[in-house]
Amino acid sequence: HFGQIPRVPGDPILGLMDLYRADTNPAKLDLGVGVYKDAQGLTPIPRAVKLAEQRLVDSEQTKSYIGGHGDAQFGALLLRQVLGSRAIALGEQRAGCTQAPGGTGALRLAGEFIAKCLPGRSIWLSDPTWPIHETLFAAAGLRVQHYPNVGADNRLDADGMLAALQQVPAGDVVLLHACCHNPTGFDLDHDDWLRVLEVVRARELLPLFDFAYQGFGDGLEEDAWAVRLFAETLPEMLITSSCSKNFGLYRERTGALIAVTSDAERLLDVRSQLASLARNLWSTPPSHGAAVVATILADEPLRQIWQDEVERMRRRIASLRGGLVEALMPYGLAERFAHIAQQRGMFSYTGLTAEQVRRLRAEDSVYLVESGRANVAGLDAERLDALAKAIARVLSN
Ligand code: LMR
Repeated sequence: HFGQIPRVPGDPILGLMDLYRADTNPAKLDLGVGVYKDAQGLTPIPRAVKLAEQRLVDSEQTKSYIGGHGDAQFGALLLRQVLGSRAIALGEQRAGCTQAPGGTGALRLAGEFIAKCLPGRSIWLSDPTWPIHETLFAAAGLRVQHYPNVGADNRLDADGMLAALQQVPAGDVVLLHACCHNPTGFDLDHDDWLRVLEVVRARELLPLFDFAYQGFGDGLEEDAWAVRLFAETLPEMLITSSCSKNFGLYRERTGALIAVTSDAERLLDVRSQLASLARNLWSTPPSHGAAVVATILADEPLRQIWQDEVERMRRRIASLRGGLVEALMPYGLAERFAHIAQQRGMFSYTGLTAEQVRRLRAEDSVYLVESGRANVAGLDAERLDALAKAIARVLSN
């Protein structure tokens, strides 16, 4: 039976969590996996979540299954959160939400849907992208291809991206990072998005937005700008939404696949497929996280508390970005790393090589993904100088 099974390498991101936990250096710093940390280095449960959970303990009547598309109230509220409460597609009942176990579950469902219902279509990923995009879509049986995101100079290459998209065969699927690009942190500006929209429309590509960091870039509404622009303009699109980061619900696995279709009838067809695919993947989704999100979004005072918390997280990350660049100044590195302050969201492509990343881990107990991605939200404002010194050292010899 199991004698011939080869061992495969551990996950490049989750594996770092284990290495970090096992590290006994008290000065260790975890800039690996994308979880938000507060000034104490903890990943807090937002107060709005705690309050909602308290209510659920008192009010929940059953643990019976929720349906194939998940919690209907969660779905309706999340659609508004993502598409905007006045979205045309919502008014015309041609947008639907299928709850999934986290953003990753939603991506896998999207992959299965494309493989089954749109056979022969390749999916085009940003190069680089979240490593699980690569393996997950391949596992769903899709052909994976790439368009550039950064150039050789470790800067956003919007022109290169557009030129590549212009060559994508009509009808193929293009995965777009809605905001807070993972891993680079380089987001398109509004003009770039308008240009991408033109290419997507002209070539009749199907956009699949990965929207995992709503609220961590420029704000909850601002970060939805591109998603809403596409949804207002195009007849069809897919969006995966994650509540892991902005609701701090990571381990509750709360997310959804949103489908926008050309009319209400089409939506029913698409949703029938999604329910059937989901049944074969996880049967019905976990309930708790979605019930928490629904409780928060449905209640004005709770929603306000949550929005303020997201805004505080967002501001803290932005200030850490500026702080790190400042701390690098005495080493003559502020210009080289100026992009860290311009990037958005939790992640930053630092431009450090895999060798430099390994040295930071071995010599300073600083954990980054080997691609050079740093989780800026894991920085400690009190120890930016020490980190800057370590970076300067691995760069100089
Ligand atoms: C990350 O990229 O670190 C996060 O999205 C967490 C994960 O699942 O990899």
